[in-house]
Amino acid sequence: MIENPGKFKPKKLGKIFLTAPGPSTKQMFSDLLRARKDPAGFLVEMREKYGNVVQFPLPILPVYLVTHPDDVDRVMRVNAKNYGKKTIQYENLALVTGDGLLAADTDSWKRQRKLIQPAFHHEAIMRVGPDTVKLTDRLLAKWNKLPDKTIVDIDDDMMHTALEVVGRSLFGTDLAGDVEKTAQATLDALDIIVARARTPITFPKWIPTPNNRKLAKALKQLDGAVARILEERKKITGAPGVDREIDMLDLLLAAHDEEGALNSKELRDQIVTFIVAGHETVASSLTWTWWLLGSNLDVQRKLQKEVDEVLKGKEPSVKDVANLSYTRAVVDEALRIFPPGWVVSRRSLDKDVLGGFDIPENAVIIISPWATHRHPDAWNNPEVFDPKRFMPDAPTPVKGTYLPFGIGPRMCIGKDFAILESVLMIARIAQKWELTPAGAEPIPRALVMVRPKDGLPMFLNRRIN
Ligand code: HEM
Repeated sequence: MIENPGKFKPKKLGKIFLTAPGPSTKQMFSDLLRARKDPAGFLVEMREKYGNVVQFPLPILPVYLVTHPDDVDRVMRVNAKNYGKKTIQYENLALVTGDGLLAADTDSWKRQRKLIQPAFHHEAIMRVGPDTVKLTDRLLAKWNKLPDKTIVDIDDDMMHTALEVVGRSLFGTDLAGDVEKTAQATLDALDIIVARARTPITFPKWIPTPNNRKLAKALKQLDGAVARILEERKKITGAPGVDREIDMLDLLLAAHDEEGALNSKELRDQIVTFIVAGHETVASSLTWTWWLLGSNLDVQRKLQKEVDEVLKGKEPSVKDVANLSYTRAVVDEALRIFPPGWVVSRRSLDKDVLGGFDIPENAVIIISPWATHRHPDAWNNPEVFDPKRFMPDAPTPVKGTYLPFGIGPRMCIGKDFAILESVLMIARIAQKWELTPAGAEPIPRALVMVRPKDGLPMFLNRRIN
């Protein structure tokens, strides 16, 4: 039996030991419906009922929910080498992204991260700025044709514009049609992955169940689109008379180490990873930011004031971002309340102690930015939307308390990209429009990302400048 520091008397369940408190098997069954309906809220409830380390009563696999900032910091940063990504969550994701950077386990990840990092260096990221403003203006041109106080689905508009930004920054303008198809196939594939994760029995990919057939169709479309993108790019790279800005795909194609460049399977996996990781995440964060601004008009007006004073009517540029500190704080606080990636997972390689409880090797650790951002030891009045928490004069958040982009070595490679895009897009829209809620409070639906269950209807109110 593993050693226990005294907090909990281990109990045997099937092949494993329960080493931390948690629901009984009977309670777990009765909670199942609730967990399926609102998984993020369910994790918060588990922490409230059982404490900082909760073990779920599964007889063949030790599964723990870890929410206290100190323990989260240990798993993701301090003792990160003890925690890999061989979990059901990432194995399912890998059915779509292959062995791309997000789903890759430790060894293959190390090489990839080194190779790919240059594509996300400061200068490369700065190119996202003009694209974001141009594509936000495309959305505003559409809104301009609408009468004042029209209701639009902000979730839909943010999904579309965020997709255009990722597409343009990664693949360049001329391939936009394919990007659209690729993204749709990706979303379809992710839906099936979520459906797989929610059913107790999953069949191997080769058994032609309806879901497996749908998955195969989405992947075929996805692979076809990515292959076309790569073929097109190879044709124009170095072609005489083609004068264009270098984008991230060029940097990915140029990346190499002593083992050579990324092969076509590796390139495919990275491209799909960037679409999966960089589209719906940013869109979700923008959607919730608008919901919070719409339901806290004092905050929206303060943001408008900053935007008007800093930009003086001109279009925002990357250089303005440092001066838009309130807008940035709003984005940061929205990411605290509604972290799009509401759950991540790890697998312990060796035993460890978290919050005073023994964790065996080969255990699954569930970490939920959603639950930790609501932990009373992490934040005062965690349910209150208060951008002041992130103003430059506020104290830096304690390690492990704020993780919308993860922390430690596996932290999001696209963080600066996402922040730049979000601040510029919010500022550009706020210059011209005030958005107010046009329906009931949206219900968060936690699937791969947290999105409003039935979209987000909002009134578009023209601002008089
Ligand atoms: C608001 C937007 C975003 C959020 C909330 C977000 C969130 C996250 C989180 C929580 C992780 C860590 C997962 C873990 O530890 O298991 C992550 C990793 C990652 N993200 Fe993001 N992300 C965002 C935008 C982006 C963008 C724009 C891109 C790319 C264009 C991107 C690419 C990635 C990649 C490749 C990884 C894996 C990094 C690694 O393991 O080395 N993300 N992201």
